[in-house]
Amino acid sequence: MRVLSGIQPSGNLHIGNYFGMMKPMIAYQETAELYCFIVNYHAMTSVADGERLSKGTLEAATDFLALGLDPAKAIFWVQGDVPEVTELTWVLTNVTPVGLLLRTHSYKDKVAQGIAPNHGLLSYPVLMAADILLYQSERVPVGKDQQQHLEITRDIAIKFNGLYGETFVIPEAEINPDVPTVLGLDGRKMSKSYDNTIEIFCTEESLRRKIAGIVTDSTPVAAPKDPEKCNLFAIISLFLDREEKAELADRYRRGGLKYSDVKKDLFARIWEYFRGAREKRRTLEENPGLIREILKEGAGKARDKARPTLDLVRRKVGLAY
Ligand code: ADP
Ligand code: TRP
Repeated sequence: MRVLSGIQPSGNLHIGNYFGMMKPMIAYQETAELYCFIVNYHAMTSVADGERLSKGTLEAATDFLALGLDPAKAIFWVQGDVPEVTELTWVLTNVTPVGLLLRTHSYKDKVAQGIAPNHGLLSYPVLMAADILLYQSERVPVGKDQQQHLEITRDIAIKFNGLYGETFVIPEAEINPDVPTVLGLDGRKMSKSYDNTIEIFCTEESLRRKIAGIVTDSTPVAAPKDPEKCNLFAIISLFLDREEKAELADRYRRGGLKYSDVKKDLFARIWEYFRGAREKRRTLEENPGLIREILKEGAGKARDKARPTLDLVRRKVGLAY
């Protein structure tokens, strides 16, 4: 099976990114033909600072490798190193209704936040469709927030296949049913746009501060509490096995539980959970040349895979003559 997903290099990666997308992707390297990339073209819709984009790209790649992505088991590259994707985007724009793009939640949310509604922002889902279809991907592991983008990709592929004959594989989103949405410090979806994240790689001090900032209710210590309504419970559950989770839920319901104790436990678990990755990251950081090499090799492989699809598309639409 061919599995593909990408992540934007537009900020420090957080545990929502990890559980929603990176962890399932890394697991797939053992069983699937895996395509994993850093989507720097997409990040241009929110980062208008060349230095920040370029630095963020290398950092996101370093993070992924530190967390266990193995370039010997996956094709790992930077989107913009395979410019074929922009050609496919142009082709696909011609089968994409503007109305569909105007109705996209992510577009509407960003405009509501005051981001200028430029063409890049509007056509973001078409570029994403090109990413997925160029490699004939079958499965796309993402968080729930990307579901609509995947539906748009499917619509575009079906429309293209209908017009020009069977060309693209119709991909499916894969959303982890156990953690469709990781909640942030304030109980909303964890997202860098809401400034409510717990970063994967941060200092001990910063992690402590973030965890102290998790919003909890004001139920007195002695009173029973409902774990299902507690944001802190949702976050710590990511680091508990089934039994530990049931036991903690029980402690909530019995009363006498202090949120500060749960926060202490959460800190210790997160710090331990990412210990190996943190150490690996320190080694990788010292060798950016090696990371560039890995990405360059990955881009070569991705390009070889992309070319036959693009040639087929060019023939179908009449760009080849
Ligand atoms: P952000 O919302 O912080 O900007 P991105 O949009 O860059 O994050 O998301 C990158 C990947 O991580 C996507 O697959 C997305 O679905 C997943 N993801 C992001 N936030 C979460 C979350 N809170 N829970 C689950 N998955 C998430
Ligand atoms: N839009 C995705 C996000 O913000 C990133 C992305 C770009 C992507 N191209 C993709 C994800 C292709 C999966 C497949 O998270």
